[in-house]
Amino acid sequence: TEEEMKKRVTEIKAKFGEELFIPGHHYQKDEVVEFADSTGDSLQLAQAAAYTTATYIVFCGVHFMAETADILTKKDQVVILPDMRAGCSMADMADIYQTERAWVKLLNLFGDTMLPLTYVNSTAAIKAFCGERGGATVTSSNAHKMVEWAFTKKERVLFLPDQHLGRNTAYDLGVPLEEMGVWNPITDTLEYEGELDNVKVILWKGHCSVHEKFTIENIEHLRSTKPDMNIIVHPECTWEVVQMSDDSGSTKKIIETIENAPSGSKWAIGTEMNLVNRIIQQHPDKEIISLNPNMCPCLTMNRIDLPHLLWALESIENGDIINQISVEDYIAKQAIAALDKMLANA
Ligand code: 13P
Ligand code: SF4
Repeated sequence: TEEEMKKRVTEIKAKFGEELFIPGHHYQKDEVVEFADSTGDSLQLAQAAAYTTATYIVFCGVHFMAETADILTKKDQVVILPDMRAGCSMADMADIYQTERAWVKLLNLFGDTMLPLTYVNSTAAIKAFCGERGGATVTSSNAHKMVEWAFTKKERVLFLPDQHLGRNTAYDLGVPLEEMGVWNPITDTLEYEGELDNVKVILWKGHCSVHEKFTIENIEHLRSTKPDMNIIVHPECTWEVVQMSDDSGSTKKIIETIENAPSGSKWAIGTEMNLVNRIIQQHPDKEIISLNPNMCPCLTMNRIDLPHLLWALESIENGDIINQISVEDYIAKQAIAALDKMLANA
C-alpha cells in the first residue's frame, strides 16, 4: 500500500542519512516531492548536485538533469534515475548528429561568427558540443545573462534546442524577430526572412510540448472572462503568449512572484500542472488557476512516482543498483566546460 511504501522510503532514507541525497524538480508529483532533500528548478538542482558529497544521488527529475548531476559530481558518486523512461521530449528534439550537420552548414553560411549555447534541457553530447566550441549551457533563470555574454564573444548565437526560450530571451535583449532565423533539423535548412547577413540569432526548431499548450486563445478567453487576473508564464511558451502575458519567468521566478504577491491577488499561471497545483495549495489567500483550464502535466516528469522512488532506493539497499546514469568521460569533460560557465553566471 501507499502507507507501506512511504514507511519503507522513510526507513531507507534514515538508514543512509547523509550518504543519500534526493533532489526533486518542482514539476515532480507531491508523493515524490514529500521525500526530496532539496527541491528546485533546473539551475538550483544543478547547483545542489555540484555541492553534495552524498554517495548516492537519486534524481527525481528527467534524464538530462540526472546526466548533468553525474557530470557535476565526482567519479565515486552514483546518480540514479528512478525511471529510465523519464526523458524530455524537448531534449530529444536535438541529437548530436543533427547538430554537427547543422554546424557545418551554418559555418558555410556565416563563417566563424557563431557561439553555440544550449538550454540545459539537452543531452550531455550537445552540452559537450557547446563546451568544445567555447559556448555554454543556460537555464531559464539565467538565459538573459548568458545570451548577453555570448554576444560579447561572437556576432551570432546558435541557441539549442528550445526556439521559444531563445526567441523570448533574444527579443527581451533587443534583437528584433527579423534578425532571428530558425534551424530546421528535419530539412537541414535555415528558415529566415529578409537578408541572411542580418540573422544574429539562430534558433533550433525545438519546443516543450507542455508549455506550447498555453495559447493565445487561453489568454483571450481569460482577458474577456476574468480581466483582473494577472497572467504569468514560463519562457518556454511561445513568443506570442509571452508578449500577451503580464509577466514571464523561470520556474523560480514564477514561485517567487506568487509568494511576494499581495493577499487577494489573482493569478493565471502558464506552467506545468504539478507545480501550479502546489502553488494553489500553498497560497489559499490568493486566487490562482492554470492558464489552460485543462491543466498541462509533463508526462515524463510524472513517470517518477512513489513505487519507482522506492524501487531505486531498495536497489541501493540491496547493493544491486538500477538505472545508474553515467556520462562517458570524454563527453563529461567537454560538457563541464559549458556547465561551469552557466554556474559561474548563476
Ligand atoms: P526550469 O526548471 O529551468 O524553470 O525549466 C523548466 C523545465 O521545463 C524543466 O524541464
Ligand atoms: Fe521537457 Fe517540457 Fe517536460 Fe521540462 S516540462 S521536462 S522541457 S517536456
